[in-house]
Amino acid sequence: MKTIASIAEMKAAVRSARAEEKTVGLVPTMGFLHEGHLSLVRESRARTDLTVVSIFVNPAQFGPNEDFASYPRDPGRDAALLEREGADILFLPAAPDIYPRGYATYVEVQKLQDRLCGASRPGHFRGVCTIVLKLFEIVRPDAAFFGRKDAQQAIILARMAGDLNLDVRIEVRPIVREPDGLALSSRNIYLNPDERRAALVLSRSLATAGAMIKAGETRAEAVVAAIRDAIGREPLARIDYIEAVDPVTLAPVDRTGEGTLVALAVFIGKTRLIDNFVVGPGGEIT
Ligand code: PAJ
Repeated sequence: MKTIASIAEMKAAVRSARAEEKTVGLVPTMGFLHEGHLSLVRESRARTDLTVVSIFVNPAQFGPNEDFASYPRDPGRDAALLEREGADILFLPAAPDIYPRGYATYVEVQKLQDRLCGASRPGHFRGVCTIVLKLFEIVRPDAAFFGRKDAQQAIILARMAGDLNLDVRIEVRPIVREPDGLALSSRNIYLNPDERRAALVLSRSLATAGAMIKAGETRAEAVVAAIRDAIGREPLARIDYIEAVDPVTLAPVDRTGEGTLVALAVFIGKTRLIDNFVVGPGGEIT
């Protein structure tokens, strides 16, 4: 695996791969890698000839009171994991190269950026879209791989790619979970043992809601209320939002149906966690 920090070098590496008619896959990350990230790397390796993994803790997507400074970082461990996984290039750009003095250009996906997580994290998706579009320009991937863990992010990025006619396929992969159901997240490291136990309320309440839908419940209000009740019983949990939304507009639905996204964000202590499921064609959840 080659590690590249310079944008010019990254562009040159992709140019020479393309000259050999290789296809290019990109897995954008903020590092502190876990199995969720690595599942995307594996998918890219299976689908493309050259897999580029970027690690960049993107200041533009963190709010002023969020955890940019304390976001977990372990570049040595990340590099070892990627090496073992067979990634071809680790792209580690420096912040002053990505956002030089005078930087002034941002990308917004209107409306979608204000819903769900966007309501409590203003500017977050503008930061995400801006860095991902920049990475697309630098790496020019045929396909880019994202996790359904961040369902709104994947939907917004697919919208951006479509709206701007980008030549990149957006591939969205399933949520990877701990054996007890907790969705893997770099932020899980913040949880103390009591919080780690309490955090199970996210996946458990979603599983209960999923079972209701599978059993025939279609009233979104009833589904959301069941989740709200379950989380309300966990003293360490504070709900940010719970919503059942249309997967294209992210607007709340009255009735759940195929494709409905049921998503939530919950604070466990000071740590904000997200989770979701999508209703499948037979009412099953994925
Ligand atoms: P990060 O949180 O590091 O996540 C990188 C990718 O891994 C995202 O596509 C995310 O959805 C995916 N991922 C995280 N946890 C996962 C899990 N449990 N199962 C499956 N996939 C999972 O998301 C970001 O970084 C940033 O916003 C980024 C897109 C890199 C832009 O800065």
